[in-house]
Amino acid sequence: MCGIVGCITNGTEAPEILLKGLKRLEYRGYDSAGIAVLNGADIRTIREVGKLCQLETALADLDLPSAVGLGHTRWATHGRPTEVNAHPHRDASGKIVVVHNGIIENFRQLRDELEKEGVTFTSETDSEIIAHLIARFYEGDLAEAVRLATRRLRGAWAIGAMHADHPEILVGARKDCPLVVGLGDDEMLLASDVTAVLDRTQKVVFLDDGQTAKLTRTSLEIVDEEGHPVDWTATVIGWSLSQAERGGFPHFMLKEIFEQPTVVSDTLLGRLEDDGEHGVLADLGMSADELTTVGRVHIIACGTSWHAGHVAKFLVERIARIPVDVDYASEFRYREPVLGEHDLVVAVSQSGETADTIAALRMAKAAGCRTLGICNVIGSTIHREADGSLMTHAGPEIGVASTKAFTGQLTALVLLALELGRMNGRLSQEEDARWSDRLRALPGQIELCLKRADDVHEVALKYVSAQDFLFIGRGINYPIALEGALKLKEISYIHAEGYPAGEMKHGPIALVDSRMPIVALCTHSNVREKVITNVEEARVRDARVIVVANDGDDEVQPIADDILWVPRVDDLLSPIINVVPLQLLSYFIARERGADVDQPRNLAKSVTVE
Ligand code: AGP
Repeated sequence: MCGIVGCITNGTEAPEILLKGLKRLEYRGYDSAGIAVLNGADIRTIREVGKLCQLETALADLDLPSAVGLGHTRWATHGRPTEVNAHPHRDASGKIVVVHNGIIENFRQLRDELEKEGVTFTSETDSEIIAHLIARFYEGDLAEAVRLATRRLRGAWAIGAMHADHPEILVGARKDCPLVVGLGDDEMLLASDVTAVLDRTQKVVFLDDGQTAKLTRTSLEIVDEEGHPVDWTATVIGWSLSQAERGGFPHFMLKEIFEQPTVVSDTLLGRLEDDGEHGVLADLGMSADELTTVGRVHIIACGTSWHAGHVAKFLVERIARIPVDVDYASEFRYREPVLGEHDLVVAVSQSGETADTIAALRMAKAAGCRTLGICNVIGSTIHREADGSLMTHAGPEIGVASTKAFTGQLTALVLLALELGRMNGRLSQEEDARWSDRLRALPGQIELCLKRADDVHEVALKYVSAQDFLFIGRGINYPIALEGALKLKEISYIHAEGYPAGEMKHGPIALVDSRMPIVALCTHSNVREKVITNVEEARVRDARVIVVANDGDDEVQPIADDILWVPRVDDLLSPIINVVPLQLLSYFIARERGADVDQPRNLAKSVTVE
């Protein structure tokens, strides 16, 4: 949600470093931004409401040579998006400055306590109390004061702090919100996301919950919540900066749609049975014996990741014959689910930082379940806290609308289903080899879909002014109807619903007329004819229908106004193919409508608060 960047350098270009780092975090969604830099003996704070360009304009008129500073992009949770509520925030002396991501749940109690001690607040935010708390504990050691202050907090935080009397240090602390240290050349950086530091270093240290880090230009000391020193090791991030840039595409979302062939092949790498490396089992953090005792799988996720979980239900139940429940994480965490030691709980999350999914994962661990994280960000909270992981190698996904991470998740979930099937003795060697062949063919089949992007664009232009859409599918493609609807609604702001095609006569068909286009997934399956019947019922009520169909399927011609052709693959792999034209359709419609495709209004890339 919010973005943090901090730097302590051997030069005087801290404002430029901070601004550049914040720009790399713009995709996370925000409504105000600010920086604080130590300029001489004083800390100068510049904050602006709106986009970073406003902050940039304000900085252009100032000369602020500085070696140390903090920057922040704020997504308002407590207090309106105003300059006063923008970060960084100060204590009463003005010498202590902090930036914060997350939510302090006991901030009202702490604010009352501090006001009774005579503290005057200048903002409506929960974050400001952190600056005053640090001041209360400060006796010359900023890092220790930050550690003690965080002991009073409840909730979630990633904090950056600096002090006018300590130009040589920066301090960071985290709980439930990501924070990394960038190990630069005679400089150190602090950031909420590795993307913010990639153009200065690829060596990072991920802080763990409860840790406080003290940075100087040349050293990093980390302590746990008791103040005990913690050893740390650096991770080298393989993502080059260009990966995080647009690569010549007009939007990150389009670039990421076109990266999907690579994502699928990278996610398969070394994990197919005949690769001989058997990488899946090693990743899962579970022994073969433990896998064979899995009696039920619970999949927890949000949004697009929940759609991936829904597809996985079909994969695991069909291949491994193990029952699967799929829950919204926000529902799972409060419904007191029945969990046992033979349950495997799988948390699916691109960011690995979604608050509801983290909470649900922790609940499952507390209940004694084995847990598995299917994430895209190394070092993310879910990646680190799950017992095992099966990473999607999608690289940084910048567009708020998830595309390549989704097909990466589906690929990883196929691998999980195959591994469970192997352990359950339900997969012969021949069948396993056939699956390897089918999976290896996927990148080329996705490429074929991408080659047809112009055809999808032509179809999209006919529906730009629609105000409502209905997406329908059956079986393993019902979740793809949901995903197609989510893609369209979240970037074009057109109202779109996904529905099981079999439900049409139970209500949705009342909506059908010439003004509401219907997108129907009619690719080969045991229920294809039934979807065709549902489409015919809509057509006789004047619906305009876009059909996703397999190459050469002449039967759909009479029932469709427009057809999005895709290559035929095994039914169980068809979601990975069928979603591609739907991603493109939503992208082209939204772009034609002039929407902010990469940063849709009201949305953030990672929902790190409840
Ligand atoms: C997907 O296009 C959305 N941006 C959103 O639904 C997202 O999938 C959801 O917030 C879950 O995020 P996660 O995968 O990082 O947990």
